[in-house]
Amino acid sequence: MWGGRFAAGPSAIMREINASIPFDKVLWRQDIAASKAHVGMLEAQGIVLARDARAIADGLDTIAAEYATNGVPENWDLEDIHMVTEDRLTQLIGPVAGRLHTARSRNDQVATDFRLWVRDTIDSIDLSLAALQEALVERAEEHAATIMPGFTHLQTAQPVTLGHHFMAYHEMIRRDRSRFADARARMNECPLGSAALAGTGFPIDRDRTAAALGFDRPTDNSLDAVSDRDFALDFLSCATQCALHLSRLAEEFVLWASQPFGFVTLPDALSTGSSIMPQKKNPDAAELVRGHSGRIVGCLTALMVTMKGLPLAYSKDMQDDKPPVFEAASLLALSVAAMTGMVAQSSFRASRMREAAEAGYATATDLADWLVREAGIPFREAHHITGAAVRLAEERGVALDQLTIEDLTDIDPRIDSRVYQALSIDASVAARTSHGGTAPDQVRARVRDARKALRLE
Ligand code: ARG
Repeated sequence: MWGGRFAAGPSAIMREINASIPFDKVLWRQDIAASKAHVGMLEAQGIVLARDARAIADGLDTIAAEYATNGVPENWDLEDIHMVTEDRLTQLIGPVAGRLHTARSRNDQVATDFRLWVRDTIDSIDLSLAALQEALVERAEEHAATIMPGFTHLQTAQPVTLGHHFMAYHEMIRRDRSRFADARARMNECPLGSAALAGTGFPIDRDRTAAALGFDRPTDNSLDAVSDRDFALDFLSCATQCALHLSRLAEEFVLWASQPFGFVTLPDALSTGSSIMPQKKNPDAAELVRGHSGRIVGCLTALMVTMKGLPLAYSKDMQDDKPPVFEAASLLALSVAAMTGMVAQSSFRASRMREAAEAGYATATDLADWLVREAGIPFREAHHITGAAVRLAEERGVALDQLTIEDLTDIDPRIDSRVYQALSIDASVAARTSHGGTAPDQVRARVRDARKALRLE
């Protein structure tokens, strides 16, 4: 395609290091769509004859059908998806194929294709994240009153409900979707027509190509348009934050599925066994989601470092923009699917969770709050009195509400038997009615809001 000024062909090494077709072939749908939009515009502007434009568009349709059934041929000599497709078009319709590249460069072509691909990918990730939210909301409703220990420092802190815990992840995923939506809106400008770097002298209509490809408008600076990869970085940074959330959720499942916790039984379909220890059921899918998040962080880092020193406009380093984006996208898609399955299909052992919530003096704060509320004691002093009660319960090896009223009044005579109402984990959870608190009714209210936002009712 560019051999005119060369006396000798590239070496084997040059061909190999130069070839992006092994990975950029996934852009074929976007490449053909962008070429069809371009040739339609060239025809409308009288730059290419209607007859030639028709031959080109029909040829592109034929190629799309071929790719869909046979895949994209990986010819390293042709470097990338743009040249492979143009070469095939020339085979099919002859030299008229060469008119397609009028007022266009691979620089604006790849920037356009890649944006389209990232945009499509955001749309499919958004759908899968909505499905994960739906699973979280459903389990949250089911477990709005299922009590478990809430932790800080992974030490039992206060009782919470499992539904509340699920809704915490729902919030994270809601923000992830809004981040992806912001990135999508920002990237939705069309680079096509920026040509190599300086624009073109042909009387093209950039609004027309932008509209044909579903972009909001054409980009405003040709130098920026061909060398900007912010859209890919935005995507990777959204993907990274989302992956971090999935990783934290995955970590909870790993922990909860361990024998000392015993909070959850993972679905067989998302677990594996051991080849030596017959009793094992390992949370491999959750561990891999946790692991994949590290690789996704790596993809973001890779592209940031690739871009950081590049002068305007296009440099070949930018061919390396695609593998990290493709890798992150497929790792994230798998991770979302795995976590959706885990949330939807795991069975939660409410009795084990309740036992654990009762074991860790999780209602100590409720005793302190009661002393403040009912006996008018300043919180710091109430904290101290409660500490003494916990110490005594620990010595006896009993729960707080198993201390006798004599035990408690010995610690502080202002305590009376009404205190027992505050000491149960049910009372503790039910009392946390502040907006966004863990009381079952609060959880149910948030579930209702979420269902409305997700248009599930
Ligand atoms: N294969 C190239 C890439 O993916 C296409 C753009 C090539 N442009 C150029 N000036 N060599 O970045």
